[in-house]
Amino acid sequence: MASAQNTTPPLDAESTAALAATGLEYALVDVEGEAFPAFLSSVARGFLGEEPTKEQVENSRDGLRGRRLVGVYDRAGDQPEAPVATVDSWVSELTVSPGRTIPLWSISAVTVAPTHRRRGIATAMLTGELRAAAAAGFALAGLTVTEATIYGRWGFSPAAWASNVTVDTRRVRWTGPVAPGRLDFVARESLTARLAAVHERIRVQRPGAVPGWDNRWRGIAGLTPEAPDAKKVRAVTYTDTSGVERGILVYTIAEREEYTEHELQVRALFADGDEALAALWRFALEHDLVGKVTAELQPAVPPVQWMVSDRRAVTATLTDHHWLRILDVPGALASRAYSGPLDLVVGVEDALGFADGAWRVRIGADGEASAERTDVAPDVWMPVGSLASLLLGGVRATELATAGLVRGTGEDLAAIDAAFAPAATPLLDIWY
Ligand SMILES: CC(C)(COP(=O)(O)OP(=O)(O)OC[C@H]1O[C@@H](n2cnc3c(N)ncnc32)[C@H](O)[C@@H]1OP(=O)(O)O)[C@@H](O)C(=O)NCCC(=O)NCCS
Repeated sequence: MASAQNTTPPLDAESTAALAATGLEYALVDVEGEAFPAFLSSVARGFLGEEPTKEQVENSRDGLRGRRLVGVYDRAGDQPEAPVATVDSWVSELTVSPGRTIPLWSISAVTVAPTHRRRGIATAMLTGELRAAAAAGFALAGLTVTEATIYGRWGFSPAAWASNVTVDTRRVRWTGPVAPGRLDFVARESLTARLAAVHERIRVQRPGAVPGWDNRWRGIAGLTPEAPDAKKVRAVTYTDTSGVERGILVYTIAEREEYTEHELQVRALFADGDEALAALWRFALEHDLVGKVTAELQPAVPPVQWMVSDRRAVTATLTDHHWLRILDVPGALASRAYSGPLDLVVGVEDALGFADGAWRVRIGADGEASAERTDVAPDVWMPVGSLASLLLGGVRATELATAGLVRGTGEDLAAIDAAFAPAATPLLDIWY
């Protein structure tokens, strides 16, 4: 497996040249420097947010230390110091099998000013990120997306899905396990550390997950400057009978005209184990004066539907959530543990070149994979995005084949399905 060496790769020369040819400057932005407030303003504008206050700038500066911030500047414009495009990236870690992780080049804050859209700036930035990450030794890049139409063209494809869950609490009675531990309200100021501690334990067990960071937890806790609804944020923890804090629920309650329709909105529900999961969901569903509970980023088939008297009171809307891009086929495939043996030549079509070609993929009886380039004709074919979608086992090769996104014999596809079956369904439980 390629090991990631360089955590702040230099700017890609090809993208620098492509942008320069249209009069634009591609530049790293120093988080401590004078260029940072304008960078943040451009990001806020891109995501339709308000102009950041000084306090918010300082808070973001703290939160973005260690990241690689890149701006694209049009120095001929009226605000030459404000980038017309932005991207932010950093070294993260993706869980690929329970207990196994791989370095991940994470990408966020992709914006292009409305005045400069549709002239190839996003293409230059994204391909620049991919070339820089590949050169630095990363096998995978990843992102979460606002629109599903943008990133497929650069070889990203969904690898973990999540559901938005709504429960009509007036229709349900708790039929799930009764947890023996205790629930306690805890202070908002303590939430950053508490969320980090529980999440850090669960994310290494769940394929598709990545670690959070302090500003992500502060946002959930309503501790960032001028956070909307901050004063409504409440939190309870679950502590097991041996005194270990195993779970945390952070929520707000939105009041409606009619008290039976008040809505408990889950901002985070992290459970290290089944007891904590049952205890926290039960707390939410049995909360007085609440008619509805909503929670984002839950498992595709949410466990809570097995814990209530009327499962149809639980609705789950599935959406793609974690998009991955394979940069190094042997590195990506060798990272996880597999469920069965395989020996196939896989042809990968990658217009950007990183993964393009025929790969002999072998998975041994021990569930460990290796891949190497070969001249042998492929048994199965797929675009690079399909390989990313298959990687964590969140979708089967036979399902992608139905859509023409994998091509091969039924026997070879079934062998891939058996080998790639995941030990746990992939899930990413935060935005990044
Ligand atoms: C999405 C965004 C970054 C694209 O920037 P851009 O510089 O206009 O993109 P490019 O000119 O490089 O276009 C690349 C391709 O994507 C297409 N495209 C761009 N934005 C698209 C969108 N929102 N939906 C569908 N296609 C889109 C272009 O048509 C072009 O297609 P082509 O490759 O077939 O020619 C920009 O519109 C933006 O900042 N949007 C608001 C913020 C946002 O949504 N960011 C994404 C966060 S996940």
